[in-house]
Amino acid sequence: MHQETDQVPRHVAVIMDGNGRWAVERGLDRIEGHYEGRKAARRFVEAASDRGIEVVSLYAFSSENWSRPTREVEALMGLIETALRAELEYLCARNAQLRVSGRLHELPEGLQRAISDAIRATDDNDGMVLNLCVNYGGRAEIVDAVRAIAAEVQSGTVAIEDIDENTVSEHLYVPGLPEPDLLIRPGGELRVSNFLLWEIAYVEFYTLPVYWPDFKEEHLDEAIADFARRRRKFGRLVGMDE
Ligand code: FPP
Repeated sequence: MHQETDQVPRHVAVIMDGNGRWAVERGLDRIEGHYEGRKAARRFVEAASDRGIEVVSLYAFSSENWSRPTREVEALMGLIETALRAELEYLCARNAQLRVSGRLHELPEGLQRAISDAIRATDDNDGMVLNLCVNYGGRAEIVDAVRAIAAEVQSGTVAIEDIDENTVSEHLYVPGLPEPDLLIRPGGELRVSNFLLWEIAYVEFYTLPVYWPDFKEEHLDEAIADFARRRRKFGRLVGMDE
């Protein structure tokens, strides 16, 4: 019999893909797909919190998404800001803590304010962490960590020979989170798309041919059941070294 993982992953990361295709296939504007995607995100947070998942990371806007048409970029910025303000009460009722990963200083000021207000308002909560990734890029996160560490070396607070993997982890946008156990990508693509590159070293990948707006709690249950059947090795020879 093989070794099974814990039943429920601690940290689930999601690439919320397929909003555009969902809309286009219905003859709708792509932006309508993002509106539906927001509803799917709310359902996901609720289902994850009900199942005892400790951290959910959602890829809401990548550093590459700026190259989309201005109208779509502006719609997404507005949608994220509106959602943050509208869902604040709900997040607090769920005792959820909001964290945001990304180059936040490059975002519109209104969205920056909504982010800092929401982080502050959920700061005393100690339930599930919602890590919203906005203007996020995995390589940019590593570059920013390297810059922060280099500044500490320059100021003499860190010695080069003391830099190890923990040092890098401690300088990520949201340090202290458990690494993702399960990465879900709806929409059928088999790509990582610059998401949480440092953090996903040992993640279990799950994809499904369902667009994000159609993602329901039963899909999360299928992903968790699939995860529970996986044999996680972390580079070891499972069964021979235990
Ligand atoms: C990718 O689908 C999705 C995005 C770039 C945006 C995701 C953002 C949301 C769902 C808003 C959620 C907001 C909050 C606050 C949780 P795509 O447009 O690349 O789809 P396609 O591959 O079908 O074109």
